[in-house]
Amino acid sequence: MAKSRGKRAKGISAPAQTHGPSTLGIHGHEPPREVGDPVAPVIVQSATFLNPPSGGGGLLYTRYGNNPNQEAVSAKLAALEGTEAAIVLASGMAAISLTLLALTKAGDHIVASRFVYGWTQRLLEEEMPLRGMEVTFVDPWEKRVWREALRPRTRVLYVEVPTNPTLRVFDPSPLSKLAREHGIAVVVDATFASPINMRPAAHGADVVIHSATKYLGGHSDLIAGVVCASRGVIDEIQSKLKLYGPAIDPHAAWLLDRGLRTLAVRIARHNENALALARWFATRDGVQRVIYPGLPEHPDHAEAARLMSGFGGMLSIVLAGGDAAADRFCEALTLAVNAPSLGGVETLVSQPRHTSHSSLTAAERAAIDIPPGFVRISVGTEDVEDLMADFDMALNAATAA
Ligand SMILES: Cc1ncc(COP(=O)(O)O)c(C=O)c1O
Repeated sequence: MAKSRGKRAKGISAPAQTHGPSTLGIHGHEPPREVGDPVAPVIVQSATFLNPPSGGGGLLYTRYGNNPNQEAVSAKLAALEGTEAAIVLASGMAAISLTLLALTKAGDHIVASRFVYGWTQRLLEEEMPLRGMEVTFVDPWEKRVWREALRPRTRVLYVEVPTNPTLRVFDPSPLSKLAREHGIAVVVDATFASPINMRPAAHGADVVIHSATKYLGGHSDLIAGVVCASRGVIDEIQSKLKLYGPAIDPHAAWLLDRGLRTLAVRIARHNENALALARWFATRDGVQRVIYPGLPEHPDHAEAARLMSGFGGMLSIVLAGGDAAADRFCEALTLAVNAPSLGGVETLVSQPRHTSHSSLTAAERAAIDIPPGFVRISVGTEDVEDLMADFDMALNAATAA
């Protein structure tokens, strides 16, 4: 492997997208095998590499993001997202921060959706202004507010699709049209969708970000992030990586690659289980509301049906008994695990008031459609009948008191 690497100065670019997503997730950008080569990828657990003694070709060093495991999984992700290039980093937050640092400088302006992951919100609201960037938050589905928020120094339009935890879905294409007119980058965090359910680059996004900790890894055993974009943007991010240093460890990159091999089949099962559970919860006593883009009553059902290949594994419910019922519900579960995060094979539940939205008051949460009794469910790939039995028992416990 090391012998052929000297020819590549800047990492592997995405292969032509000639294969389907299941095939790409398994084979990606494999070099031809010779007799005796391993079928599974090798972990290159090395910080540094034999570099050309006379220089040239770019230094090979794992913090630079050009370790073979980092490069192989990046190329696979670019192919899955349909972008020219990608880079894997040590976490989803590293992917978001380095992207914003690469696309903006002091004096620039960012317009961001108000409905983003809590730490992304803090990064935008508190950290970016410390570095001289200004941020305006908008309601993403109000199309005209994006245009109204633009300033001469606006460089980025930032959204999450679907949103956490209310699972709103909207089309980034109109944003992209607006952004093109003004030379602005549209950045989409598509963690909740995964490239199997939605590929934002096909809808005009310039940059697609994932917390690879979630569906891409898929087993709740690694922390990683990915940015997929043009080679030029990825090169900028790579130079920030060299400066700030959140490189992914080769073993974590290898684990991520392993997760991608089963991504398509896992997502199919997440989609199937979540839709079945959403329909089931809608028939249960004690459940006031079920929030799932696959249900016709979801406000963005038609948009989701048009934009997504599957409605995803994330589902939220609102219990009639309020927060006390939600606590009892989560405590009673024996199969589903009460834990933050999402996208793993095991079903997880969490209450935003204890996790992602704990810094907001109850009134502030209600204003963004998170009323008392709200429980977010990351539906896993277990047998759905077993999940229904567990949730049934927990609903009984929640409504008994
Ligand atoms: C939508 C979204 N983006 C980014 C992140 C941050 O990812 P990580 O925990 O891998 O840094 C999360 C984490 O929950 C998330 O839900």
